[in-house]
Amino acid sequence: MRILVTGGAGFIGSALVRHLISDSEHEVLVLDKLTYAGLLSSLEAVSGSNRYQFAQADIADPVAVGEALSRFRPQVIAHLAAESHVDRSIDGPGEFIQTNIVGTFALLQQALGYYRNLPTDEQAAFRFHHISTDEVFGSLDETGLFTETTPYDPRSPYSASKAASDHLVRAWGHTYGLPVLVTNCSNNYGPHHFPEKLIPLIIIRALSGESLPVYGDGSNVRDWLYVEDHARALRAVFERGQPGRTYNVGGNAERRNIDVVKAICAALDRLSPAPSGRSYAEQITFVADRPGHDQRYAIDASRIRDELGWEPQHAFEDGIEATVRWYLQNRDWWQAILDARYATQRLGAA
Ligand code: NAD
Ligand code: DAU
Repeated sequence: MRILVTGGAGFIGSALVRHLISDSEHEVLVLDKLTYAGLLSSLEAVSGSNRYQFAQADIADPVAVGEALSRFRPQVIAHLAAESHVDRSIDGPGEFIQTNIVGTFALLQQALGYYRNLPTDEQAAFRFHHISTDEVFGSLDETGLFTETTPYDPRSPYSASKAASDHLVRAWGHTYGLPVLVTNCSNNYGPHHFPEKLIPLIIIRALSGESLPVYGDGSNVRDWLYVEDHARALRAVFERGQPGRTYNVGGNAERRNIDVVKAICAALDRLSPAPSGRSYAEQITFVADRPGHDQRYAIDASRIRDELGWEPQHAFEDGIEATVRWYLQNRDWWQAILDARYATQRLGAA
């Protein structure tokens, strides 16, 4: 298959592309604007493959997207391009509206025009797969899980923009007959995670001897999924999922933020003890809470398990250890980000 991956230079997109090049025969075209979060260094492992191509373009640019579609002739569009960081959306929502809503609309229009011009047999095989988040469902208290039928209740500019994009994608499916798939996934972690997000931020600040900022009292809960498990889930959905259907994806690994931070500190204490001999956990600092901070996310992933046979393969403790090892062994990757001027705004949250 030929798969066009928007946002393929980002954290999850690059994991998907590395997975497709190493574990399948699919051909991939990455279409990515290369914002602050898009890094060609995350695609170095596939850059020598003759099944991989790259195009720098904005999903909101109809000319560039139309050209990529007619040149590459994909059977699948896997749409991951987005502004993805909740704190940035609070500080400046404009880019989130532009890329996540207007950009998705523009991409849908191009995809529909392309789809309508395909021969009938190729139309039957075509899929537009929209990659979304569990944050569209809002916030849970101690009990309950998000299912595919949980009503939408987004509460941050980021999640509201993703919810809008989910609705647009489904509307293009219902109204115009575009064969769409939607996945809503929980928090990912693993290699190549941009260091503004909790897990890499804590690893890097710990190694730098800085404070480790935990928002509020650290009791907020996220359901963590190793990014390579998400890549396998996405492939299962666009290869075998039923058009028009939504699949929730989760790690079955709910953890309080404070416990995540302590787990990272414990892994670092084992793998790279601080020169002072003290535990990294002594650097933990409770800081002002995120405005509107959702208390708990948790996913019921039984549909994708029962229909497509997908399950996470990485337990949280193993995934955290593998992630900490990756950041210890790939300092050049993250140091280049820290050195870049554009990244300075959100790396010192304390
Ligand atoms: P990311 O921020 O790491 O990467 C986003 C990528 O999109 C970057 O390569 C960036 O350059 C590109 N991009 C941004 N605006 C663009 C535009 N206008 N045109 C073309 N490319 C553009 O994000 P991520 O964490 O890899 O998330 C990927 C997708 O998965 C997003 O849609 C996000 O909402 C969703 N998601 C993320 C998580 C998570 O835990 N990270 C969980 C569930 C769903
Ligand atoms: O649930 C899926 C979502 O997970 C994705 O849709 C988003 O794109 C992705 O960024 C992620 O959103 P979160 O807001 O949950 O991730 P983040 O890493 O920013 O924060 C995780 C938790 O840790 C959250 O409860 C806020 C808290 N936190 C975060 C940072 C950056 C802290 O306590 N301290 C911090 O410095």
